[in-house]
Amino acid sequence: MTFDVKRVRAAYPALSDGYSYLDGAAGTQAPATVIEAIAGAYRAGIGNVGGVFPASGRSGSIVAECRQALADLTGASPDGVILGPNMTTLTYRLAETLSRSWGPGDEVVVSRLDHDANIRPWVQAAARHGATVRWAEADVATTELPAAQYGELICERTRLVAVTAASNVVGTRPDVAAIATAAHAAGAAVYVDGVHATPHVPVDVRALGADFYGTSAYKWSGPHIGTVVADPALLETLQPDRLAPAPAGVPGRFERGTAAFADLAGVAAAVEHLASLDPAVSGSRRERVLASMAAVEEYETRLFARMLDGLAAMEHVTLYGRAARRAPTAFFTVAGHTPGQAAGHLAARQVNVWNGDNYAWELAGVLGLRDSGGAVRAGLVHYNDEADVDRLLAAVAELG
Ligand SMILES: Cc1ncc(COP(=O)(O)O)c(C=O)c1O
Repeated sequence: MTFDVKRVRAAYPALSDGYSYLDGAAGTQAPATVIEAIAGAYRAGIGNVGGVFPASGRSGSIVAECRQALADLTGASPDGVILGPNMTTLTYRLAETLSRSWGPGDEVVVSRLDHDANIRPWVQAAARHGATVRWAEADVATTELPAAQYGELICERTRLVAVTAASNVVGTRPDVAAIATAAHAAGAAVYVDGVHATPHVPVDVRALGADFYGTSAYKWSGPHIGTVVADPALLETLQPDRLAPAPAGVPGRFERGTAAFADLAGVAAAVEHLASLDPAVSGSRRERVLASMAAVEEYETRLFARMLDGLAAMEHVTLYGRAARRAPTAFFTVAGHTPGQAAGHLAARQVNVWNGDNYAWELAGVLGLRDSGGAVRAGLVHYNDEADVDRLLAAVAELG
């Protein structure tokens, strides 16, 4: 397993601006290959799909290659890859569709660990159809989402369990497979938010037990495109609203209007970028993605320990997030400074971080941070290095 961060950083034009990009949890930079793939699509000439001329055919090929790339990234079938603008839009669309058959007495389970994009669409859909919402609680002290509680929460009336594969603020990676097993035993579907997990770990939707898995390419070096992947046979059972002349098949009937074709070329390039992060591995792209993401996980875990140890040593810093398994994302407050002030100080030191609840709105409430401006979020991705971490630590130390 090799990880050459110098080589990786050289692939990203934006990283030469002198800033430390610790804002990857809100969106990553794009490597030159992704930028070129998008520009290349426009340069070659693209048209809308379904026409009889070559430029239209090129867009059709881009869509097919994008579905295959996302299948390679997640372990799904390309025929079950739904493409859209972002995870939130697609989740609302699926909530609208799935909830059609819900009624009084039916139940859905959401978690307080999740980003609001995997909570509110389900809560609002349940309210529209008279279904009951049950809440899985995050433990305040450990920020774990104990899987054992799902035994109590799930019953034969449960229709859907929505849970994140990783918290976008405290990084907690719950035992999704155990939760999915409990859900499936009761006949419920499992909707997994993979937006924060996908950039950090190898993903296998079947091993997770995810009936639906959402992820957004802009969190893993791609353009602003989202996807939800599912078993095509499951999608066949669902009828989303669609225009009369629009594609009736799967997955096309879940996609609305004209796609961002050039960006989709960038998504495939981003998956190829991830697959090439460990150049020592060979094999199919799926095999290279799995091996490269294992190398990424190991590299980020090591770098994250440096960040956490440094922050934990500062008396003026309060760290949130103690889960045993977590993505490399730190969430902290700084005594005497609002999160906005602290982030502003870091920006002046050329360190990009986020402040606020980052839409983990329920969790911010659990942690008592919702009304005080949230916290500072500093997250690592595979292009960050020790210099980024050390600059963050030096700048936070100045606030003491
Ligand atoms: C964990 C998580 N889920 C969902 C979302 C929403 O994703 P999108 O912006 O693609 O709608 C985000 C975005 O920050 C996120 O971090």
